Amino acid sequence: MKHSLLVAIACATLATVGCSDTQPTETPSAKAAQIADMKRATDHHSYAKPSEAVTTHLSWDAEVDFASRQIHATATYLLDVADDAQRVLLDCRGLDIQAVIVDGQEVEFELGPERPFIGQPLSIPVTSASEQVAVTYSTTDQADAFLWVEGERPFLFTQSQAILARTWVPCQDSPGIRFTYDATVRVPKELMALMSAVNPTSKTDDGVYTFRMDQPIPSYLLALAVGDVEFREVGAHTGVYATPDLIDAAEFEFSEMEDMLVAAENLYGKYAWERYDLLVLPAAFPFGGMENPRLTFATPTIIAGDRSLVSLVAHELAHSWSGNLVTNATWDDFWLNEGFTVYFEQRIMEAVYGRDISEMLGTLSYQGLVDEVDAIMDVNPSDTHLRLHLKDRNPDDGMTAIAYDKGYFFLRLLEETVGRSAFDDFLKTYFTSHAFQVMDTDSFLGYLDNNLLTTEALRAAVNVPAWVDGQGLPDNCPEVQSARLDLVDATLEAWVHGDKTASDLPWDQWLYQEKYRFLSNLPDDISSDRLAELDDAWSVNATGNNEVLFAWLEQAVRSHHTPAYERLETFLIHVGRRKFLTPLYRAMVETGQQAMADAIYEQARPNYHSVATGTMDELLGRSSN
Ligand code: BES
Ligand code: ZN
Repeated sequence: MKHSLLVAIACATLATVGCSDTQPTETPSAKAAQIADMKRATDHHSYAKPSEAVTTHLSWDAEVDFASRQIHATATYLLDVADDAQRVLLDCRGLDIQAVIVDGQEVEFELGPERPFIGQPLSIPVTSASEQVAVTYSTTDQADAFLWVEGERPFLFTQSQAILARTWVPCQDSPGIRFTYDATVRVPKELMALMSAVNPTSKTDDGVYTFRMDQPIPSYLLALAVGDVEFREVGAHTGVYATPDLIDAAEFEFSEMEDMLVAAENLYGKYAWERYDLLVLPAAFPFGGMENPRLTFATPTIIAGDRSLVSLVAHELAHSWSGNLVTNATWDDFWLNEGFTVYFEQRIMEAVYGRDISEMLGTLSYQGLVDEVDAIMDVNPSDTHLRLHLKDRNPDDGMTAIAYDKGYFFLRLLEETVGRSAFDDFLKTYFTSHAFQVMDTDSFLGYLDNNLLTTEALRAAVNVPAWVDGQGLPDNCPEVQSARLDLVDATLEAWVHGDKTASDLPWDQWLYQEKYRFLSNLPDDISSDRLAELDDAWSVNATGNNEVLFAWLEQAVRSHHTPAYERLETFLIHVGRRKFLTPLYRAMVETGQQAMADAIYEQARPNYHSVATGTMDELLGRSSN
């Protein structure tokens, strides 16, 4: 007997979420309607046809081969097939498919035509009675999710979001389709394997690791890391994994994670994933952080020695609700993941570190947002809408400050319009009542009108259409105030005009946010001599804070301040975080120093992840791969 998707999802939710807070509170018929919505949903970045068949559970059996940089695996799925359906469609890109077995019988499968970054549909014949399908395959050198790090400390990590899961696991690679999973993974004996699942805390003798993820997740949250890592507990439900050289520093840096978790639960309800651990990845990780469930992946560049960059942890933790629990239906709805997460991140930061700090962060975001809106308006104004239109484009194009910070300011406007306590009640109920479900922009706007903006006056005050489908930053964008950053701005003015010398300024007393504000707002044409004055007084070039260093290096490039170029080069070769790389390479290109950019890139490129090389290849005018 086949059970329906409705029953499968309801069971998974009941079986695994022990707390009543995250139980969907909707009636069964409302839930059925939700699932019907999901089955109707079209995602132009996936070949999956959920109305025909959906995968509800994955059993992944894999062997990780560092020598050939491949994974050989079998992905076995439990299926829910509609009555008249004849196939299940999986996404794959660059996979070498060896065999497909349906309920014990080998079948003939079909791989459709390849489309850029979308990949190929893998069509497998099934009937409504089919229960499981097993795909045996190997990854190839086109597995863009992977980064293999060689040398003394071999390391492999994956980055699946947005649509790279299909480069290492054939799957229904659409954020609206969720499944539970288990896995058995064989790795070299000296290394530990970790996934977005229940994880080991020490190495096994035989290099075989087993995993379970009992809560249903979308494919973009599938994650694997393999490396010589150790584990340290930092709280009752929190801990860090890092390589031996970084484990002490990581333990210190992230020791406040449990406080953040408690603050987050106090805001928006019970944490649904039991444990929250963080893995420090090699510096080549292309992002700051990735919210893989139960195990955030993070760049080591946030280890500053003074816990000053931990807002990134607040962000990834917040995704445990916004994104991982209530998930954007398609990448056009990305702001529902990221805008909500930045808002939640800010609230965690305020709760744990105080409003002075969160308002400084908000002020920096506002400045970044205004700059980016200006830049995008010149190229593609409709990319400044919260609701995106990414059909036939790489979903990566949507990863701009719009989803993050315009999204944040929209939520902040809602808060300021209805008052904090009403908004908190609304958000908490939103997360609780949509736990383990998908959300698209229209559904959210309907929910908003029914539950928060319930009067004409409130709707007029917010003007939702201007935010969601309108260009730029609406006039009613909230204002952020930071007296401390205002003071930095005044100090910068005084220094630029020669009223103060660098040694008069309170650099050593400044927090990272203040240092960053100062350096990132230096006039573009400031002379190299004046940068030398700053460096002499403050040794900026030797700072251990990578955000401060980044702001410094960008200005150094623009001012042709050659004493910083050695540091620039080592930074670019060592660090693969795209947020730093793009502005630095761009600054070189824009100031007539492309030859230097090309020379550094030539050396650095083999260390970068595909996400970073994709962007840098384009920026530097290289043809891909
Ligand atoms: N989920 C994102 C990273 C992401 C988005 C990867 C889209 C691929 C496609 C993650 O939560 C994130 O937003 N990371 C930010 C950090 C944050 C503090 C803004 C980053 O990596 O910069
Ligand atoms: Zn995020």
